[in-house]
Order: sequence, then structure tokens, then C-alpha cells
Amino acid sequence: MTAGPILDRRAFILANTRLQAPPHTPELRLWLADEVTPIWRLTEEELGEMGLPPPFWAFAWAGGQALARYLLDHPHEVVGKRVVDFATGSGIVAIAALRAGAAEVLASDIDAFCADAVALNAEANAASVDFTDANLLEAPPPPAADVILAADICYEKPLAEQVMAWLRAARDAGARVLIGDPGRSYFPKSGLTPLAEYRVPTTRDLEDAEIKRTGVWALA
Ligand SMILES: C[S@@+](CC[C@H](N)C(=O)[O-])C[C@H]1O[C@@H](n2cnc3c(N)ncnc32)[C@H](O)[C@@H]1O
Repeated sequence: MTAGPILDRRAFILANTRLQAPPHTPELRLWLADEVTPIWRLTEEELGEMGLPPPFWAFAWAGGQALARYLLDHPHEVVGKRVVDFATGSGIVAIAALRAGAAEVLASDIDAFCADAVALNAEANAASVDFTDANLLEAPPPPAADVILAADICYEKPLAEQVMAWLRAARDAGARVLIGDPGRSYFPKSGLTPLAEYRVPTTRDLEDAEIKRTGVWALA
């Protein structure tokens, strides 16, 4: 048998998270961790690599909870549409889009755990989400997408700049672009139409706050 890092990612996710409802979308169930440090440390130990990014897939970020809430309450945004959820993490937004009536949803993320995390979370909600680990930013936005969703993607400057340019290209090609963001440092301050604002419950462990005021925006 070949030795390798975390041979069974699905088992790792099941062993280190629990099925729970994100507080702002109680109708969904996701396999989520309760604290960042233990699962981050375990991932690094098991993979034998240090300096890995946090296990984003194990949390429902404020931007994702807000955008998911917005879609569940405004299904007309996605009903019958072909949707891409860029940087899906746990898949919360992709699953909400399907629940709201999207015809099909492609979720993308470059984190090696996301394929299994999204599959497990989709299963838990009886949803069927397509997934790609390709870096969609390396090509023009998929022309077949009617709606592109992106939640909590402005936490690092180079990523935020690249994603926003890619999302503007998608908008120029005719897609509706919806973004959930809790005021991250690199979220642009112009060119956006506000659609909703929520007070999203989060944890001090994750955000150093119990509530994050979080907006949902359309690229104008
Ligand atoms: C803060 S998390 C947000 C996850 C989810 N959208 C939510 O709101 O819960 C950011 C996510 O962006 C992903 N990411 C970073 N660069 C990416 C890229 N080029 N393509 C796809 N996903 C990317 C990370 O792996 C991570 O899962």
C-alpha cells in the first residue's frame, strides 16, 4: 500500500467535524469544526506540511452564511439558472443555490479537502453539487454561467484583486455576480449595489467577534 498524506479525507472530515446547522441558515446541515486551531494543527500533522492555509472548508464564513441566507430568501436570483460558486469552501452557498432552485451548480475551490467536504455536505442536504478543483481564475469566466456567486474572498490583497477583476469580466460577459462580504480589508468600496445586510452569528475563535455585520452585493 502506498504511503501518503491523509489517505481518506472523507474519514478525516467525519472524524474531526460534526454535522450542524450554520446559525444564519438553520435549514442547512454542514460538517463543521467548532474550533480552528485543533483541526488546522491536525491537518498539518497528518499532511506532514507546515504553513498550510487554514481549513476554510471546515467553517461557514460570515460572507457565505449571508449569501446563502440571501439566496434562500430570494430564490428568483437563481431559480432555473446555471450557477458557479467560486471559492466554495464547505459548499454552503452552492448548496443554498440548489435549495433555492438553481438548475445546476458548479462549485470551485483549490483546497485539496473541498471535493470531499462539499460532497459530504451536499449529501447531508440531499443536494447534488458539481465540483472542480481547477483554478478558475486562470481562464476567462465560464461563458455558460448565468450567475456567479463568491462569498468571503477578499481576505488577502492579491486574491481579492484577481477575483474582483475576474468577476468584473464575468459581469461584462453577461453574468449576474453576487458577493457576500463582512467588510474584509480588501473588499472594494465602489462598483457594487447593496442587496441585503445581516448580522451573522460567528465565533470569537474565528473572527474575534460574536456577530459580523455582513453585506450581500451585486456587481453593478
Ligand atoms: C474564507 S473561505 C470562504 C469559503 C466559502 N465561500 C464561505 O463563505 O464559507 C475562502 C475560500 O477561498 C478558496 N480559494 C482561495 N483561492 C481560490 C481560487 N483561486 N480558486 C478557488 N477557491 C479559492 C479557499 O480555499 C477557501 O476555501
